[in-house]
Amino acid sequence: MSDSLIESPQPSAETGEALKTETLQSIKALPPTAKVVMSGMRPTGKLHLGHYMGVLRNWVSLQNEYPCFFMVADWHALTTKYDETDNLRANILDMALDWLAAGIDPEKATMYVQSSIPEEAELHLLFSMITPAKWVQTDPTLKDMVAMLHEDLSYGLLGYPILQTVDILSVRAGLVPVGKDQLAHLEISRDIARRFNHMYKTDLFVEPRPLLTETPMLIGLDGRKMGKSYNNAIFLSETADETWAKVKTAITDPARIKRTDPGNPENCEVVYKYYEAFAPQEARNLAAEECRSAARGCMDCKKILAEYINETMAPMRERRTLYASDKAQVEKVLREGSEKTRAVCQDTLRKVKDVMKLF
Ligand code: TRP
Ligand code: SF4
Repeated sequence: MSDSLIESPQPSAETGEALKTETLQSIKALPPTAKVVMSGMRPTGKLHLGHYMGVLRNWVSLQNEYPCFFMVADWHALTTKYDETDNLRANILDMALDWLAAGIDPEKATMYVQSSIPEEAELHLLFSMITPAKWVQTDPTLKDMVAMLHEDLSYGLLGYPILQTVDILSVRAGLVPVGKDQLAHLEISRDIARRFNHMYKTDLFVEPRPLLTETPMLIGLDGRKMGKSYNNAIFLSETADETWAKVKTAITDPARIKRTDPGNPENCEVVYKYYEAFAPQEARNLAAEECRSAARGCMDCKKILAEYINETMAPMRERRTLYASDKAQVEKVLREGSEKTRAVCQDTLRKVKDVMKLF
């Protein structure tokens, strides 16, 4: 483990997300085989700064410490979006491009596409045999997804946590960086791993553990959850000017009406919160001070913030330009990553069939 990950009190763009210290202590004690990292994202559209600060930045730092598998979950996207696949292929490539721009290095981490691994489908079938239906029926995360549906629950969506378990166990990962919303799924993955090992008297699978990150997702510019449908997100693909134009629209301390009114950074739920995420300590203190004394106006405050955000995004923009001009290269990264992952999954499947005494 690098010191930056353990000690960094302020997560920064370079060191990535600071993980909880106890988490790091207990990871250290794990055997090497349990230290494989796996995570995934559904390719539902362009990624924004919230994804970067909450997820990708953490992946980028993990790739320096552990073998990492990062998967484009296109089958998982189909569990709800099976009826709108026109943009699916473009979204897969776009997401891979966002990952590369964010700093995922294909020399270090393996990026791949779920549907390129047919062994996953076979493992999904086998795991579905040993999973009590009750486990998936009572999964609170799945219940939330079902509550948002406009149609009846499909058989495929019901299997969501089992498929996710396959993602993790097929590469025999022990560490899964996810947000809180995924903990219920992961609990099922642990249960399935344990049940499989017990039932077939094997130690093939480690029970995967979540790697929770300390920093919550970045809030949207309007104070709501950041999301592409709200028009309150800064996308990783946006330019410095576009970013500035968006930062201008961010909400500030609502009580500060006139330029001469002193403000309160604590009630400035977006701009000041972003300072906490993007600006160094001194700049943050200065903003707070000048806000309270009305020495600084909100527009100036935002201008400075936009500069810090753009500073964080500059290396991403450089990498994006590089890859965007060579889409074939992005495809190649996914193809090679998928081949490499497939070999691992084939090995897992062989072992699974062996202990299950299949023909
Ligand atoms: N369900 C995850 C999400 O919606 C995406 C995902 C698919 C995933 N497979 C995974 C996450 C495996 C971690 C591990 O965000
Ligand atoms: Fe927020 Fe900055 Fe305006 Fe203060 S000066 S209210 S911190 S935007």
